[in-house]
Amino acid sequence: MSVLEARGLAKSYGSTPVFSGIDLCLQAGELVALLGESGSGKSTLLNCLAGLDEPSAGSVRLAGADMAALNEGQRALLRRQHLGFVFQAFHVLPHLTVAANVGLPLLLLKRPDPQRVQEMLVAVGLGDLAARMPRQLSGGQLQRVAIARALVHRPALVLADEPTGNLDARNASAVLDLLLEQVHAQGSACLLVTHSERAAARADRCVQLSEQGIAEHRIAEHPRTGHPFTDKQVLA
Ligand SMILES: Nc1ncnc2c1ncn2[C@@H]1O[C@H](COP(=O)(O)OP(=O)(O)OP(=O)(O)O)[C@@H](O)[C@H]1O
Ligand SMILES: [Mg+2]
Repeated sequence: MSVLEARGLAKSYGSTPVFSGIDLCLQAGELVALLGESGSGKSTLLNCLAGLDEPSAGSVRLAGADMAALNEGQRALLRRQHLGFVFQAFHVLPHLTVAANVGLPLLLLKRPDPQRVQEMLVAVGLGDLAARMPRQLSGGQLQRVAIARALVHRPALVLADEPTGNLDARNASAVLDLLLEQVHAQGSACLLVTHSERAAARADRCVQLSEQGIAEHRIAEHPRTGHPFTDKQVLA
């Protein structure tokens, strides 16, 4: 069974289409990079996949459940159980400590687990900063808090929206390593929005969002050629 299955997904704001005809499936443990120019609709697509935004057409199944058949409360529960979301703008809660931010998904599931929270903080290199407030952290540290929070409850699917977009190259690479390491260790599927070809080259598959729909790139067998993507097949 697919962890995530989107069929014929479309989104318009008023009469302005953002995307249409999107078919996308993620299997358990699969890492898929989502590429596309700024404004092509990557964040909008992630929000629709998570049931945080209503698509104009099409269907989304998350962990086998049809999002459209659920009410808002049921959708929230499904998200809490199966989804970790690393937002483009972090959305770390300013009035909660680092540890409380990371522990929030477990608290919402009524499974508080301070030991697991500390384990995640150590995993993202923030073991000593549990009691800090978000305003006392750097951008890179905030990004790591957001990653720890998205993974703490071992979700089947992680949606990560440019999780290293605000970092310099060295830190971006370190934070990405960390995210991929954790995702891999937990066997989560991950849809990773990124502008980095280096990040995309590490994915099992790359898909590109454009006005024409979604196109799939196959990664070259010999990335040393400097052309990480070969075959380009328009799927929609
Ligand atoms: N609430 C909204 N109302 C109207 N238009 C919107 C709304 N939200 C987003 N858009 C438009 O939809 C398009 C897609 O936006 P989106 O944020 O999904 O792009 P993106 O691919 O994530 O871009 P970036 O790489 O800059 O983050 C943009 O043209 C944007 O202006
Ligand atoms: Mg975006």
